[in-house]
Amino acid sequence: MIGFGGDYNPEQWDPATWAEDDELMRRARVTTATVGVFSWAILEPAEGSYDFGWLDDTLDRLHGNGISVTLATPTASPPPWFTFAHPDAMTVTADGTRLTHGSRDTYCAASPAYREAALRIATQLARRYCGHPAVTRWHIHNEYGTICWCDHAAEAFRRWLRDRYRSLDAVNEAWSTSFWSQRYSAWEQILPPRATQYLPNPAQSLDFKRFWSDELLAAYTEQRDEIRRHDPGAEVTTNFILAAWQPIDVWRWSREVDVVAIDHYLDTTDETEGHADIAFAADRARSFNGGRPWVLMEQAASLVNTGGVMAHRAAGRVVMDSLGYVARGADDVLFFQWRASRGGSEMYHAALVPHTGPVSRIFREAVQLGETLECIGEVAGSEVRADVAILYDADSRWALETRSLPSDHLSYLGQIRAIHRMLWEAGVTTDFAPLGADLSGYRLVVAPTLYIMPVAGVDAIRRYVREGGHLAVTFFSGIVDEAHRIHLGGYPGPLRDVLGVRVEEFHPLRPGVTIALDDGSSGTVWSELLRSEGAEVMASYADGLGPAITRHAYGAGIAWYLSTQPRSLHDILRTAGVSPVLPGLPPGVDAVRRGRYLFVFNHGDTPTVLPVSGTDLLTGQTVTTVQPSSAVILTHDPERRQLLA
Ligand code: GAL
Repeated sequence: MIGFGGDYNPEQWDPATWAEDDELMRRARVTTATVGVFSWAILEPAEGSYDFGWLDDTLDRLHGNGISVTLATPTASPPPWFTFAHPDAMTVTADGTRLTHGSRDTYCAASPAYREAALRIATQLARRYCGHPAVTRWHIHNEYGTICWCDHAAEAFRRWLRDRYRSLDAVNEAWSTSFWSQRYSAWEQILPPRATQYLPNPAQSLDFKRFWSDELLAAYTEQRDEIRRHDPGAEVTTNFILAAWQPIDVWRWSREVDVVAIDHYLDTTDETEGHADIAFAADRARSFNGGRPWVLMEQAASLVNTGGVMAHRAAGRVVMDSLGYVARGADDVLFFQWRASRGGSEMYHAALVPHTGPVSRIFREAVQLGETLECIGEVAGSEVRADVAILYDADSRWALETRSLPSDHLSYLGQIRAIHRMLWEAGVTTDFAPLGADLSGYRLVVAPTLYIMPVAGVDAIRRYVREGGHLAVTFFSGIVDEAHRIHLGGYPGPLRDVLGVRVEEFHPLRPGVTIALDDGSSGTVWSELLRSEGAEVMASYADGLGPAITRHAYGAGIAWYLSTQPRSLHDILRTAGVSPVLPGLPPGVDAVRRGRYLFVFNHGDTPTVLPVSGTDLLTGQTVTTVQPSSAVILTHDPERRQLLA
């Protein structure tokens, strides 16, 4: 079964609306509802006094209606009484402003009062609802990410640093504090990277990000453990946000959740961008979950806030897009939210039941989606396999947010996304992998702008190439070690021998500038003064700067180095023997294989004849063509063994 449903807030409505919800959920074939995400003030109206009546009724009602519940702990939004009792637990921004309640997510995760109160309400919920027949999954908190620079944060940061470095001398060394008179002579002098006069210390900033991810993780795991204590078999998770802003190390966090759940809000103003973005989010979510099926915890039924003007999802997109996530491994397609709020800051946010009610395009499409997901239920549990992996690293991402780099226009996420996009356009399904992962199952591994390279951290990459793997490393990689200190002697520090090159200088390009290569192609974003130390030069800069793209045989494998952002990876894919999921598809037609199912999406405006035929799971018909703006899901047809063999 593919789960379908979303955030459900009955506490915002009256009994007549609940009755309508029951009926509409049946009509839309909703299977699951996420309850309680921001309900703290209603569940605990005063410190230590609880009102669970409405939640008891809600769970019983949903259960009676055949709907399972993902029960949230409400700790992302402490009630006003909490602020008054514990003003020191409110978030302080980097410039020293203390925030107050009135929105949500206003708390410091390092504040003892907040942690105590959060654990208390989570424990109450665990005691009361673990084992409740409606509750099939726990959803801790919501989108962990609020950062704080207060004194509690400072204290916790120092504890984390003591743990990591053991001595103050080691911190001074790692942070290069002999620069600009920053040397610390007592632990108490160390602060979070608060607002300061000029460029902050990049190593301090990086460590603060690492620390904060760990601090939030501790806040998560203590709630999770409490739930597990009451119900050892409970499935516990939290929802990761995959936005441009990423305050947690998702690889590390993924080990602590029972299933990876993501929120994905699409920019629907650009069609192609949107489809590529779904693939990008879904491939990451699946990889974070070790290749196993994952949960799309939130998406929007229509209106999404993109750059100040809300963009709507065009007719039919919600079904197609949802299938896009399923094709890449989602076993749950959930929304924020079930019913659009009548008031509050998100009153204009889309929902499966809009303000106009069920007689609406959006609700009709919700029903259509419910039917579609029910019809393809057998896909659940099957897994996607990829031949290519992109290395994705939280440390490199965070370090590249530093302000003192050779270019302000280099974005780590932008580079990861650009490489993913090239692979997506080539019809190749891609996984993501963390540094240190066993890469032996992949034909090709791409390491885009792997800025931080701990010497030992690249052992797995080296082994992979030595044993016959194909590797492609792109520019501005291997520049610093894990303490954010330069690898001296030429870049990419620890991988120079594998790549057979040495980078002497960076020549970042301005946005929009293209640099010509002598093979007729061109590069953008970056260029470098690169020397071959044994690598074969595949293309050079036409202006005479020197080699641009190289290839080096190392052990039984091949290692490419790209000192600029190319337009495609075709030569590399060909050399590595990577072919598209379904060769011969025109641009705009996307194919993904999940278990014995082949999903084909036609995002274009002309029918596409497929190179294979099979039975479409959506219609039960044998199909050879995919109509514009639609999808087919072909299953293995024993008569035509060429498909999915
Ligand atoms: C998510 C959040 C939801 C809702 C939604 C609006 O980030 O988890 O509670 O605010 O955004 O798009």
